[in-house]
Formats: sequence, structure tokens, C-alpha cells
Amino acid sequence: MNPLSRSELIDALAQLVGSAQVLTEARDLAPYFTDWRKQYSANAECVVRPANTGEVSRVVELCANQDIGIVPQGGNTGLCGGSVPTGMRREVVVSLSRLNRIREVDPLNNTITVEAGCVLAAVQTAAEGAMRFFPLSLAAEGSCQIGGNLSTNAGGVNVLRFGNTREQALGLEVVLPDGRVWNGLRGLRKDNTGYDLKQLFIGAEGSLGIITAAVLKLYPKPEASATAWIALNSPREAVGLLASLRGQLGDRLVAFELVSRRCLEAVLVHARGSSDPLGDVHPWYVLAEFADCGSADALRANLERVLVGCAESAALRDAALAHSAAQARALWRIRESIPEAQFSNVKHDISVPVSRLPEFIERSDAALERRFPGVTPYTFGHIGDGNLHYNVGMPDAAATAALIARRSEVNAVVYEVVDALGGSISAEHGLGQLKREEILAHKSALELEMMRAIKRALDPRQVMNPGKVL
Ligand code: FAD
Ligand code: MLT
Ligand code: ZN
Repeated sequence: MNPLSRSELIDALAQLVGSAQVLTEARDLAPYFTDWRKQYSANAECVVRPANTGEVSRVVELCANQDIGIVPQGGNTGLCGGSVPTGMRREVVVSLSRLNRIREVDPLNNTITVEAGCVLAAVQTAAEGAMRFFPLSLAAEGSCQIGGNLSTNAGGVNVLRFGNTREQALGLEVVLPDGRVWNGLRGLRKDNTGYDLKQLFIGAEGSLGIITAAVLKLYPKPEASATAWIALNSPREAVGLLASLRGQLGDRLVAFELVSRRCLEAVLVHARGSSDPLGDVHPWYVLAEFADCGSADALRANLERVLVGCAESAALRDAALAHSAAQARALWRIRESIPEAQFSNVKHDISVPVSRLPEFIERSDAALERRFPGVTPYTFGHIGDGNLHYNVGMPDAAATAALIARRSEVNAVVYEVVDALGGSISAEHGLGQLKREEILAHKSALELEMMRAIKRALDPRQVMNPGKVL
């Protein structure tokens, strides 16, 4: 087939989805071509906004036949440059935003079937409307889409109790790289009929196909919740406290997030209206969320009793319990504001076994200080999952810019510690463009060979999200 010129391609796409849904003007394209952190920006032929699975299928088939790279895009909140073009070849961005229907809620099966472009917050709201709970929660939930969450296997703050996005998916509908549609929309909790194909597409960052719909698990809606902001001496004590709370409160503990004093101070400067929840200055904090059936008073009384016990054993310095939903929201706003409050630095999204997290922080802090004296790590994140956002800056903007220019040296120091502790260099954000090369040094040759074999089997023409993951 002769390659279509740009204008012929745009006409052909317009035939499939309508001309209003093929964006070609620079001002319309700009938001789709640059990632959330403004680290990656490149042009593509156009942006296509199909309305349903059939249109996605026909767009993919056309692009594949033209050997044009296909870049699936959800809410474009990804942090590794996976959702924007690379500019390495002819590419088309396929926005899933118009596939935003809740197809079905089945309260007795505890499932919801949604299209990929549903914003995460809308899925949570639909679950609530059915007196159920959808547990995936992250600060970008007002913009990120469920297709993006599945494709990055997003984590967020409730993984401790409910698991990653992968654990929420029972079935998928996927447009394969040649345009065929795989209908795997099964709402089964048990199905041992060979390979679990949906798992290939979850966390694949759009490199194996486009997810167009999913069947997701729902849970009983918790009747009561409690939120605590807890001050501690060190991450080591935070890990000890986690074990204590889980031992005494079990699955009532839903979230357990670490915040360093430096992160809190960045939020106090950045987020208008935020305030320090405690009177005194403390080096480390944990934000913990609890949920239960029964009364909120009973849950709070139980939690207070446990926290007093921990204070007596010197495991915690101080704590503030939210007394209203507004107070709980204010505490969570501090946590959710951290990414934007320390936007520019060398970001890391690492995981190690929970038991080794304190050692990771101690060793990385010391190694970085030796190599880059005066360095300022912003340490926060999902300590309950062994996942930290360990973001490294310098005391002023010019020095931080100089450090960012030496990002690979910073990464080498941090990743050496990660490897020594048996960890991962991407816990929840994925690889995208950011870690595409880096990962080669952290996976075995056999793992890389298996990944490449899967890619070749499903996408022999290599059209899906070129230049990402592999
Ligand atoms: P996009 O950014 O649009 O895309 C991400 C990747 O998925 C790309 O590779 C893209 O090509 C692919 N993709 C998107 N949709 C599809 C589809 N339908 N089919 C196939 N491939 C597709 N992440 C966490 O894990 N935990 C957090 O706590 C967290 N907090 C965040 C807080 C903030 C303030 C921000 C800005 C981001 C945060 N993130 C977090 C990162 C981001 O929100 C998640 O990775 C999210 O899952 C991305 O969803 P999205 O719809 O924006 O996807
Ligand atoms: C978070 O947990 O806040 C996110 O993953 C975002 C980030 O790391 O910046
Ligand atoms: Zn995170």
C-alpha cells in the first residue's frame, strides 16, 4: 500500500471518526503532545478521538496498514512520558476520552463494566451510586482515566488493603495492534482456562494494544473511616508502627503514607490554606487511613487506644486524629499536594521489601550526600507497600537544575542501593520513555527476551506506542 500523505491520512481518519474528531491545529494539539511534567514533547501527524470500540478498531487498522505509530492517551497524567509521541517516526495520538460510558453495574456480582476513557473519579462515583466502593485512589483521580490506570497498573494510596489496579480487573476488551477486537469482558472471579491474557495488557503502557473497556471489582462501602496524622522519629519507627497497627487493627488499616518534614514544608509554601497539623516540628510523619463497618465513634475509640499504646512504647511522638470529614480532607490534601510542591527535581519511584525501606533511605541519603554534598531528598510515598517517591533536589533552583543535568549519575547512586536491597526502579509509574533504557541494566537477559517475544507475537509491525517500555 502506498503511504498516505499527512492530508490524505487526516481525510481517511476523518472518514472513520468524523472531521471534528481529528485534531490538526497547533493550539488543539499542544496539550496532547506534552506530558504532565513537561519533560517530553514531540509532534505527531494528528490526534484522533474515536467514540467507541469499533472506531478505535478501524483507526488502529488504518494506522497499522500505513505503518504509523499509535500512541494511546488517557488523561495524560503519566509520569514517564508514555502517553505522548516520541517524534521518532510518523505517529498518531489516539485519545480515549470519548469512550467514557459506564456500561453496567452489577451489585450482586460486585462488578462495574466501564469504558477506558472513564475518569477514575467518575468510576468511584458510579460505585458509590450503587452503594459499593471502588478502591483505586490517587491524587490525579480527577483527570486520569481507567484505561491509563490499567495500562500503567497504577498503585495509589489504597494498595496496602486492596492491591494495585491489576488486582481490580476481572476482564478487559482490547483492540489489538492489527485492529481486531478481543472481547475478554468476563466478570469471573475464577477462570482457569489457560493463560490469563488480560494480565499482558495491564501494565503494558499501551505497547501491546488499546484497552477499550474493563470489568472491575467493587467492594462493600465502608460505613466508618478514621484518619490520623502521626509524627515519628524515623522511617524505621514508621515500619515498626505499620506492623503494630496491622497486628492490632488488621484490614481496617487501608492506607499508610510516609511524609518527611521537608515535604511538609514544601507543601506549606506551595498549597494555599494548608497548615501544619501538629504544633511542634517533627522529622517524619505518617498519614494513615482506617475503615470499618460499624460506627465511626467505635473505630476512632479503637484507634485511639492503639495509638496511645504505641505512644507509651515510644513508637510515636505525637498524633492528630481528624474529627470531621473536612479535617480528614485537609490532611489528605497535604499528602496529595506533595507532587506539585516539589515539582522540579530528580524523581524516583522505587520499591524494596517494606522491612528494608529504612535501610534504603539511610543508605541512599548517605551515598548521595557523599557524591553531591548539600543534596536535599524529598522522601514520601506508599511506605506500607514498600514504595517510595525519593525525589532529589538541591537547596536552590540553580543547583537543582545543575543536578537534573546530572540525572543519570543521581539515578546510578540510588539504583545501586535499590538493586542491593532486591528492589525495583519503577514501583508504580511504569517505564515509558523515562526508564526505557535504564531498565535494560535492571532486568535479566532472559526477562528482556521474554518481554521482546511477547511484543513480537502481538505487535509484529511494532506500531503500538513506539519508543516506550522496550
Ligand atoms: P496516560 O498518562 O494518558 O497514559 C499512561 C500510559 O498508559 C501511556 O503509556 C499510554 O500510552 C497508556 N494508555 C493510556 N490509556 C490507554 C488505553 N486505554 N489503552 C492502552 N494504553 C493506554 N500513579 C500511581 O501509580 N500512583 C499514584 O499515587 C499517582 N499519583 C499521581 C499524582 C499526580 C498529581 C499525578 C500527576 C500523577 C500521579 N500518578 C500516580 C501517575 C498517573 O496518574 C498514573 O500513571 C495514571 O494511571 C495514568 O493515567 P492516565 O489516564 O493519565 O494515563
Ligand atoms: C504520588 O504518590 O503522589 C505519586 O505517585 C506522584 C508522584 O510521585 O509525584
Ligand atoms: Zn505514588
